Amino acid sequence: MKRTMRGNVEALDTILRAWSTGDRATMAAAARRVADEHPGVDTPSLRTALPPGWTTLGSVVHSGMASFADDVAAPNAPLPDAEIPARLAAVTEACVACHQTYRFTTAP
Ligand code: HEC
Repeated sequence: MKRTMRGNVEALDTILRAWSTGDRATMAAAARRVADEHPGVDTPSLRTALPPGWTTLGSVVHSGMASFADDVAAPNAPLPDAEIPARLAAVTEACVACHQTYRFTTAP
């Protein structure tokens, strides 16, 4: 999970840096890596333990990054620069909401 989380923040860094040089392909690839990482879904023991709110916020990150990856480098009508901050903020809002709500703790 820590590896996933560090990957998330690294992806945001990559996306912002690549945007500053107009490298849409790198932006899309970084977003796709986040979208394709599913620790909660791929780990059966976690799947049953995770609360519904967790799953919902995780889905916002995954679907938001998947659609961002599709749209940012779309060959015909790529996402306009002006729309990029709002699309990323929709994802980071879920990052923040999850961090405000959940902590990893060990059972007492
Ligand atoms: C579904 C819940 C959830 C979502 C969504 C989520 N996180 Fe996390 N993240 C956590 C939890 C829980 C921790 C551990 C926090 C704690 O126990 O204090 C964490 C920790 C982290 C850490 C610290 C990792 C470490 O090495 O200790 C980073 C960085 C991080 N998240 C980045 C992100 C970013 C960026 C996003 C959005 C793209 C994101 N997270 C989305 C639940 C989430």
